[in-house]
Amino acid sequence: DLYGATRRNPLGRDYSRDSERATARLAADLGAADTISAGPIVGGRLLAGKGPQPMTSPVDRSRLIGAVSEATAEDIDLAARVARAAQPAWDRKGGAGRAVVLRAMGDALEAEMDRFVALLSREAGKTLNDGVAEVREAVDFCRYYAHLAEKQFSGLQPLTGPVGETNHLELRGRGTFVCISPWNFPLAIFTGQIAAALAAGNAVLAKPAEQTPLVAAEAIRLFHRAGLDADLLALLPGDGATVGAALVGHPLVHGVAFTGGTDTAWTINRQLANRPGAILPFIAETGGLNAMFVDTTALKEQVVDDVVVSALGSAGQRCSALRLLFVPEESADELIATLVGAVDTLVVGDPADAATDVGPVIDADAQAMLEEHAARLQREAKILKRVDPGVWGTRGNFFGPVLAEVPRADFLGKEVFGPILHIYRYRADELESIGRQLAATGYALTLGIHSRIERFAEQVRDLVPAGNVYVNRSIIGAVVGVQPFGGEGLSGTGPKAGGPHALLRYATERAVSVNI
Ligand code: NAD
Ligand code: ALA
Repeated sequence: DLYGATRRNPLGRDYSRDSERATARLAADLGAADTISAGPIVGGRLLAGKGPQPMTSPVDRSRLIGAVSEATAEDIDLAARVARAAQPAWDRKGGAGRAVVLRAMGDALEAEMDRFVALLSREAGKTLNDGVAEVREAVDFCRYYAHLAEKQFSGLQPLTGPVGETNHLELRGRGTFVCISPWNFPLAIFTGQIAAALAAGNAVLAKPAEQTPLVAAEAIRLFHRAGLDADLLALLPGDGATVGAALVGHPLVHGVAFTGGTDTAWTINRQLANRPGAILPFIAETGGLNAMFVDTTALKEQVVDDVVVSALGSAGQRCSALRLLFVPEESADELIATLVGAVDTLVVGDPADAATDVGPVIDADAQAMLEEHAARLQREAKILKRVDPGVWGTRGNFFGPVLAEVPRADFLGKEVFGPILHIYRYRADELESIGRQLAATGYALTLGIHSRIERFAEQVRDLVPAGNVYVNRSIIGAVVGVQPFGGEGLSGTGPKAGGPHALLRYATERAVSVNI
C-alpha cells in the first residue's frame, strides 16, 4: 500500500453551521489579545536574534499580530551544529520510529485546527475554508510521510546476487536539510517540507517566508511538543537574500528543499552550483503559467464554477491557480456573460467571516504589482469585470478580482500572482499553435481541460506540458497521496509533494554486498 490508502484523513469543518462558526470565532478571539513572538528557535529555545520587527495583518494594516526577530549568522551556525549532533540518532531510529513522531504531529495539528485556522486568517489573510483545507493538508503530509517512512525506510531491501553473496539496498538520511518555504501555504508547505526531510532521517533548518513567520513558529513549537527532539528542527526566520543565502551556503548543510518563485529557485541553484565541497540535492517547486482549455461540449455551469474557484479562490494566490482561460469562439459570449455574473456575486472582505469568498493579497508589494498589471490590462486588453473591494481596500491589502479578455494568446509571458483571470477566445485552427506557445514558455505546472470529448482532452494533454492535469474539474487543491503535486521545467524539479517518491531525494541510497 505505497499510496497510503489506509491513512485517516483529518476531519474538516462546516462553517455554515452556527456551532462550528462559534468555535472558530472563539479560537480567533481567544488569541486576539495575544501577539505571537517569533524568532530563531534552536534546541527548542527562542533566541534573541536581530530585531524584533512588528508584524501586522494583511487584513488590517493597523492590527498588530506579533513580532519577529531575524536569525543572525551565529544563530544559523549554532542551529547547524546542534542539528548535526542530533541527526545520527534520528536516522538510526528507522522509518517506523520516526513515523510515530510524525503521526503525533499530525494528531496535534488536527487537535489545534481552529487555532491554526485563526492564525492563518490573521497572518496570511486565508478565508476560513482555505484555512481548514490548509491545516488538513499539513496533517495529511505528516501522516502520509509517516506511512512512506515506514514502508521505505524500515530495514534493508534485499537484492539478488550470486550464490554466497548477499546484496541489499538501504535508504538513509543525508544529514541536515534546509527547507525554504513561501507565504502562500505558510503551514501546509512549511510542514510538508519539514515532515518529508524528517521522515527520510534528516535534521531540518527551516526558513519561513518573511511574511509568515508567526504561523511557522507555532508549527515548530507544536512539532517539539508532539515529541520531536527539539535539536532536530530549528526555525531561522529572516530575509531570503541574507538568512536564506547563509543557510544554503552553510558547510554543514546536505540538501535544500525550496518552494517559491522561479527566479528565486534560479538564484539558489546558482549558489549551490558554486558551493565548494559537495554537490547538493536541490528540490524546487516553483511557479506556473496555468491554462484551462474549454471546448463547445463543456457544461457551462460546471466550467464557470471551476474557473471561479481555480482563478479567484484563495485570491489567486496559489501556484496552481488558473491564469489563462481559452474559450472557443462559438460559445465564448455566453460563457463569458455567465462568468461575469458569477464573479459579480463574490464577496470580498474579512477572511475570518464565513461569508467571505476572497480575502486580501499578502502585502502592499503584491497589491502594487497587481495594480500595475491591471493598468496594463486597461491599456492593452479589455477588462470585463473588476470587483470593488469597498472599505477593505483602504483597511488592508485588498485587490478586487479582475476578469480581462486579452487580444493575443501569448499576452501573459509569466506568472502574475493574484486574482486576475485572462481570457482568450480561440478558433479551432489555433489550438496547436497556442499549445506550442505555452510549451515554449517553459512553465509546466497545472493544466485544466473542460470537454466531453476524450480526443480533445488527449490532444490538449499532448500539446501542453504540465505536472498536474485536471479534466472537468477545478485545477487547484491537490490532495496528498491522491493528486501528487508538482511541475516540470521552470515549474519544478520534482519529486512530487504528497506522492510515493517524495522522500527519495531527501535520502541517500547505500548498496551493501557481503560475501560469506
Ligand atoms: P519567493 O521566491 O519570493 O520566496 C520563497 C522563499 O524563498 C521565502 O522564504 C524567501 O525568503 C526565500 N528566498 C528568497 N530569496 C532567497 C535566496 N536568495 N536564498 C534563499 N532563500 C531565498 O516566493 P513567494 O513570493 O514567497 O511565494 C510565491 C511563489 O511561490 C509563486 O511564484 C508561487 O507560484 C510559488 N509556489 C509554488 C508552489 C509549488 O508547489 N510549485 C507552491 C506554492 C508557491
Ligand atoms: N497543492 C496546492 C494546490 O494544488 C498548491 O492548489
